[in-house]
Amino acid sequence: MAGKVKTIGVLTSGGDAPGMNAAIRAVVRKSLNNGVNIKGIKKGYMGLLNEEIMDMNAISVSDTIQRGGTVLGTARCPEFKEEEVQEEAAKICRKHGIDGLVVIGGDGSYRGAQALSKHGINTIGIPGTIDLDISCTDYTIGFDTAVNTAMQAIDKVRDTSSSHERCSIIEVMGRNAGYIALWCGVANGAEDILLPEKYDFNEQVLVNNIIANRKIGKTHHLIINAEGIGHSTSMARRIEAATGIETRATILGYMQRGGSPTCKDRYYASIMGAYAADILFEGKTNRCVCYQNGKFMDMDIDEALAMTKTIDPYQFEVSRLLSRNEYTDKK
Ligand code: ADP
Ligand code: F6P
Repeated sequence: MAGKVKTIGVLTSGGDAPGMNAAIRAVVRKSLNNGVNIKGIKKGYMGLLNEEIMDMNAISVSDTIQRGGTVLGTARCPEFKEEEVQEEAAKICRKHGIDGLVVIGGDGSYRGAQALSKHGINTIGIPGTIDLDISCTDYTIGFDTAVNTAMQAIDKVRDTSSSHERCSIIEVMGRNAGYIALWCGVANGAEDILLPEKYDFNEQVLVNNIIANRKIGKTHHLIINAEGIGHSTSMARRIEAATGIETRATILGYMQRGGSPTCKDRYYASIMGAYAADILFEGKTNRCVCYQNGKFMDMDIDEALAMTKTIDPYQFEVSRLLSRNEYTDKK
């Protein structure tokens, strides 16, 4: 029922991700275009509970699309898992006239949106996380910028690794998911790519690979290690002891979450923000915006949270194949 929602709130929650500002900007401007009032909520669910709520207009989001981080701020708010806290948050929304809410964040943030929907606030989730670990969507805001940032940093580490003929273990973010590691592993031409979904903790395989590569004249050996496996520094010590080859660990850390978003992150986030504003305007609730098979769409949050995501077996196989330096001659 178009026009049911009179005032929309927008917040960012969980880890920040480059492109969140483009999504906020689109939510604000599309809502205004739909004749709906728009309020910004600072610092995620924490800010909602503290009533850090401000009116927004088209100018509020001017000069933000190119910025990393989130202009609304973000936070983790563990107490939001409690039923009475969620009820209180719904009351605060009503007090401020907010009858629709756009939540930009990961699947933890979607659970908060799901709870608010049950308490009568129309909610829509937008996938905002560098980890690409939301099952219902092929795209999450920030992943593209994060992998490009990490890829450039890894190229730099490769230069010094080659000059010193060292092995380098580079740890990338991703929480329990290996997508950043997989993409950088392929894009940086790493010799080994360790994904939490696949790694069997057999370090002897790595040691043998490093020694074999050195024998055929390789001056570097890059291992991309995912945060979900971790322990890169102690892994480096063990590998150095086993191979006799100097080994260093570099943990890229939060640099992957910052910086100006890529064109893809600005564009997709803009479309998703506008889409969220439109489906709230149509009266939808407990939905999340997704990108699947080349199309923007929406689906039920309950269904989205029940889905699981795995590393594509073909892409994984290719990543392993391209890392090798010796191939069986099939001619
Ligand atoms: P992300 O949204 O990136 O997955 P988190 O898992 O840290 O990040 O979740 C962000 C916030 O979402 C949490 O700090 C909390 O406020 C809220 N949240 C997470 N899980 C739940 C839940 N089960 N119920 C309600 N709110 C939740
Ligand atoms: O979800 C994004 C992310 O950067 C993960 O890759 C990482 O595990 C986590 O957030 C770190 O969270 P925090 O900012 O709380 O240290």
